[in-house]
Amino acid sequence: MFTRAIVRPPSDNFADGLTSVDLGAPVFEKALAQHRAYCEALIRCGLTLIELEADPAYPDSTFVEDTAIVTENCAVITNPGAESRKGEVVSIVETLSKFYDRLDRVQPPGTVDGGDVCQIGSHFLIGISERTNREGAEQLSGFLNAESYTSSHVDVRGTKGLLHLKSGITFIGENRLIVADSLLGQPEFGGYEIVRVPAGEEYAANCIRVNDYVLFAAGFPKLKTELEKLGYNLIELEMSEFEKMDGGLSCLSLRF
Ligand code: GLY
Repeated sequence: MFTRAIVRPPSDNFADGLTSVDLGAPVFEKALAQHRAYCEALIRCGLTLIELEADPAYPDSTFVEDTAIVTENCAVITNPGAESRKGEVVSIVETLSKFYDRLDRVQPPGTVDGGDVCQIGSHFLIGISERTNREGAEQLSGFLNAESYTSSHVDVRGTKGLLHLKSGITFIGENRLIVADSLLGQPEFGGYEIVRVPAGEEYAANCIRVNDYVLFAAGFPKLKTELEKLGYNLIELEMSEFEKMDGGLSCLSLRF
């Protein structure tokens, strides 16, 4: 069960952040409203929010997930792969220090973005991507192994339309992985029941199980119906402004 989440609203220069998609510029007021609805959904899931102030020094800093890996046993501060995002970790160190006695840290030349890290119980899938390199993944595995977690690495470089591993997969509980077609067949996904993402609904692959609910991007009816048939309680959230900036539901919080 999660009890807390760290969140940070977008800053008014959110549109200056990194993106690889061509969906137009995000509308700030709309992004703020979508973020507020996201926060309310987390509260509905039973979480207490730790709300950081918007930080215009880092236009991507609303995507707090990339700055740390938080688990029951340990917390690891990442070294984000994008140069413009490295400083985002400073305020996260300050915040997480209140909850963990020790913080491990990925050191250069290692880089890790939290969006590449998928926890499945006591096992972690770590994506090697444009943001997370092998050195960073090895360091992270070392920290996790020291806390009795296991890990394996999944190379997602060159997978079309995928910024991070979790842009294409979600562990939704009950031994089930939601997987976009572009990632099907990875040997690391063997042993899980695979829920395939219908064609055209790839953005919905990034959703999050939070206690008794699944936060799910609005506008993807086929996957929504499939998950509801499997018995999940979905909370649908408008994500259009974050999608424009290459962000998904998981990116907007650190849950622990
Ligand atoms: N805009 C999210 C990222 O590129 O890191």
